[in-house]
Amino acid sequence: MNKRQTRAFFYAGTGVCALVFLGMTWDTHRQIPKLTNESKLTSEVIQGKRVWHKNDCINCHTLLGEGAYFAPDLTKITQQRGAPYIKAFLKDPSKFYSEERDRRLMPTLNLSDKEIDDVIAFLEWVGHIDTQGWPPRPILVSGSAIPGTGIMGAVAGAAPSNEPIALGQALYRASPPGCFACHSVSPGVNLVGPSLADIAATARRRIASPAYHGASKDAAAYIRESILNPNAFVVVGPTFSSGGLSLMPAGFDASLTPRQIDDLVAYLMTLK
Ligand code: HEC
Ligand code: HEC
Repeated sequence: MNKRQTRAFFYAGTGVCALVFLGMTWDTHRQIPKLTNESKLTSEVIQGKRVWHKNDCINCHTLLGEGAYFAPDLTKITQQRGAPYIKAFLKDPSKFYSEERDRRLMPTLNLSDKEIDDVIAFLEWVGHIDTQGWPPRPILVSGSAIPGTGIMGAVAGAAPSNEPIALGQALYRASPPGCFACHSVSPGVNLVGPSLADIAATARRRIASPAYHGASKDAAAYIRESILNPNAFVVVGPTFSSGGLSLMPAGFDASLTPRQIDDLVAYLMTLK
């Protein structure tokens, strides 16, 4: 190539690459409103983003992998924990974690009820951004494991078979519904909710106790009732309820299919 050809090659090559780049940028921007559910950007979500910035949540937490790695990633937190828990947690984090055991503590930020509702609306919106499968693995911030619970190991995977028990176990570990984020299946390990290590036996004990006034007559029915209507019987424990109401999210009757609930019950009935 002589000098003129080299120059022409340079300009043509640069021009083509620039066009491709601009075209892809335009295409990405075209898709953003849909991927981010722009139509769901309510005033609460926008106020919630202000609460998020004002309190420097990002100095400790990550969203979509961005932020600081001191505290758990919160991208899918509303799907993993549900609003009632997050509300109670933000009012007084020290009720749920101990500085001694977890070696770190979230400060009490003295947020108003409105600020808490708004920041939850913001986190709920973030959780539904379509990231097109990015990141490829769930973000598990180092140190977010609760020692001895294996909670980091509880990563969702496909069920090894189509049997109800296997399907139920896979669903239990998936997020949503995020059962594993609040319940350990190790004996004696209470996270936000009680350990389900021997829930089939526990269920029988609960029904027999004089405090139980629900409608269930056997263990499977009790487990089903616990999932569909957490307030039918509220187990007593330090982080289990707030103002007498269960911190387990309501609404699984709508977000899970009857078949999925059958599978969860089948799996939990094997824990005895
Ligand atoms: C100084 C650091 C820090 C700041 C600032 C902070 N957090 Fe946290 N947060 C933590 C830590 C650490 C945890 C883990 C629990 C613990 O040890 O208390 C946590 C836990 C949480 C959890 C519960 C996670 C779970 O699964 O139990 C939520 C929800 C949360 N933070 C939301 C927020 C929001 C919203 C803000 C801003 C309004 C915020 N945090 C600001 C440090 C922080
Ligand atoms: C945000 C935390 C949270 C999530 C998520 C959660 N639970 Fe719970 N769960 C609790 C709490 C707290 C209790 C105890 C209060 C009560 O009785 O409702 C509980 C109680 C239970 C009980 C009764 C336990 C007993 O000892 O009587 C069962 C069964 C149960 N949950 C199953 C599930 C299943 C299955 C899922 C997933 C579909 C799930 N939970 C998701 C917090 C949670």
